[in-house]
Amino acid sequence: MSKNTVRLRIFKNKTAAIIFDNEHKKVNTLGTQTLHELETILDDVHKNKNIKLLTIQSAKDGIFIAGADIKEIQNLSDASEALEKVQKGQAVLNKIAKLPFPTVAVINGMCLGGGAELALSCTYRIATDHPKTKIGFPEVQLGIFPGFGGTQRLPKLVGLVSALPMILTGKPIDGKKAFKKGLVHAYVAHSFLSDSLKKFTDQVLSKKVKKKRLPLRHRILQSMGFRWFVFYQAKKTVLQRTKGQYPAPLKALEVVRKTFKVKTFKKGLAVEAQEFSKLAVSKISKNMIHVFYANELLKNQAREKARFADVSVTSAAVIGAGVMGGDIAWLFSKAGISVRLKDLKWGPVVTAVNHAKDIYQKLKKKRKVTASEMDRKMNLISGTIENQPLKQVDFILEAVVEDMQVKQKVFKDLEKKTTNQTVLATNTSALSVTSITSGMKNISRTIGFHFFNPATKMPLVEIIPTPKTSKATIGTAFSLALKMGKTPLQTKDNPGFLVNRLLMPYMNEAAHMFDEGVDIEIIDKLMEKFGMPMGPFKLADAVGIDVGYKVAKELYQAFGDRMKPASILSKMVDQGLLGSKTGKGFYDYTKGGRSVSSAVDRLRPKHKIIIDKDIINRCLLIMVNDAARCLEENVVDSPAHLDMGMILGAGFPPFRGGLLKYADDKGLQDIMQNLLFLTKQYDKRFDPVPMICELARKNKTFYGGV
Ligand code: NAI
Repeated sequence: MSKNTVRLRIFKNKTAAIIFDNEHKKVNTLGTQTLHELETILDDVHKNKNIKLLTIQSAKDGIFIAGADIKEIQNLSDASEALEKVQKGQAVLNKIAKLPFPTVAVINGMCLGGGAELALSCTYRIATDHPKTKIGFPEVQLGIFPGFGGTQRLPKLVGLVSALPMILTGKPIDGKKAFKKGLVHAYVAHSFLSDSLKKFTDQVLSKKVKKKRLPLRHRILQSMGFRWFVFYQAKKTVLQRTKGQYPAPLKALEVVRKTFKVKTFKKGLAVEAQEFSKLAVSKISKNMIHVFYANELLKNQAREKARFADVSVTSAAVIGAGVMGGDIAWLFSKAGISVRLKDLKWGPVVTAVNHAKDIYQKLKKKRKVTASEMDRKMNLISGTIENQPLKQVDFILEAVVEDMQVKQKVFKDLEKKTTNQTVLATNTSALSVTSITSGMKNISRTIGFHFFNPATKMPLVEIIPTPKTSKATIGTAFSLALKMGKTPLQTKDNPGFLVNRLLMPYMNEAAHMFDEGVDIEIIDKLMEKFGMPMGPFKLADAVGIDVGYKVAKELYQAFGDRMKPASILSKMVDQGLLGSKTGKGFYDYTKGGRSVSSAVDRLRPKHKIIIDKDIINRCLLIMVNDAARCLEENVVDSPAHLDMGMILGAGFPPFRGGLLKYADDKGLQDIMQNLLFLTKQYDKRFDPVPMICELARKNKTFYGGV
């Protein structure tokens, strides 16, 4: 093995530095090769009687060590091999902990997973205010937990109360917070790092560094009488967040609980390694790593596309200050972009501005923005009902009612009021962007820019170019979406784009089952148990039955009988049962909480029971079948793009790896057989598409390709 990821320097003043600098990668990781090199260096320095202090640093800007090598974890298929690997990692880090002189981890950038565990094995840690300095244990997001001693060292260092949220949520903290929690011994400006490090190591050598004591409350809470309560609360929070579908945080909690007061450190490490190795080979971990890579692919491609942007958006306008317009205006301001909200009436404008203020107030309460930041950001938002020119604006997003004629009129009008430097975008849910912009002279600057509700939270933006949209406009849209903290996904301009095209059949299928007489709660519960964030009826109520019905009709018009809306939808629209916004939809929200709406239940023709398997298959396979059509029609570039769209835009459960990954895992022969069964039993809308039949015949997968 060639030595190329970590090196040793020994200085005249009898200090030494281990420097991580992977020659072949942008980031440092703790893979087998690096651990091997590190171990050799550690054995050398251990023997060196001249060294009196060792620092561990990185030569890369903004990176300490980004974590273990995820590819290696992904390739683990045998628990005993996983055990061997994780024990090796533990042993190497133990060598750091056992060095006969003090060690200092110099954290000036990303310090995650195995990297953070390495830092924990040092005697001291110093962190900088570099914007990229983040210390955290994101392992649970990959279906595992810290296995290189993290579950042992972190709780002992910062106490249970601070350690558990870090291990169980995977959320990293910055250098300042790490200092407050006692995770690092010094917090310094990154621009003066070498001076500060010198000062700090001098203090270490003269034994002047003080250890932070845990706050009294934390000490009491982790004492014998109260500890059970901390674990009880932590478990409750994990179960609320994960609905018990993600085993990693629960296992991590169990490991910490079992080992927090274990007699020897070695015993604790053994429990950690055992449990880690089981999770590392689990299907859920493999799926979550699959999602991690799919997400990286999407982000990297987005950054590539953003390079073609010809405008860096600093000013924007939103036309239509309704539900979406209000959220989007807030997003613009948060990204530091001035935004003008325009509506026909003052009412929605005022509501939208107040809504933005409410969001900032909540963030201020949580100390996520300061009062002056909030004022500055709110000053970026202005409102109008005048039809003024918008010549200085870089990007205009139309978010008026979902009506082709209204939108066409808005676009024609916008063309007159802007220069051809401005990008004109639509937030339409399902209408053809090409048709919306068809009356314009120059459509090279037009594009679909589709947020999901609530836009403040949902991470996906679908970017929908027309055949004539310029590359620079696509680039500007990608760059803007990234600036707004969103993940952009390019889709073809077809009805419903990607996510609504697949999500509507899911809700519609559930509504068909209602029409046949099935209880809505049974269906919702089954789909939530599968992992969907909301059952189809709860989702329909949240979207709004009228909004959903409108989209359903558009899809029916475009795709024909297979998307025919269930009859209950029009009946509900006629009776004003429009979902949570009117207090009544499939469920009744007027009595506080949520109960099945008696008004809707009365519309159920008869009571019928369908077996669970059929309910789940009907909801899922109707999507899988159309997802295959989306691939056939090149709606998105690949199965990974489709899966990420469904995870980020529809909340499809990441632990399943995505809709197509789920189908691949089931096997396409199984999927085809089930679709044929549903066709025979229920309707020809389930007829499997040619791609599925061909993949099944060839015993291939969506990801493997035809
Ligand atoms: P909304 O009905 O809450 O708001 C629309 C606003 O546009 C209203 O305030 C209305 O007064 C205003 N408006 C109508 N014509 C206008 C004009 N000519 N000039 C200026 N303002 C005008 O609608 P919502 O829900 O915000 O939807 C807006 C768009 O976003 C639609 O195309 C919808 O399909 C899409 N969308 C909606 C989502 C949702 O869940 N509500 C999700 C994603 C996209």
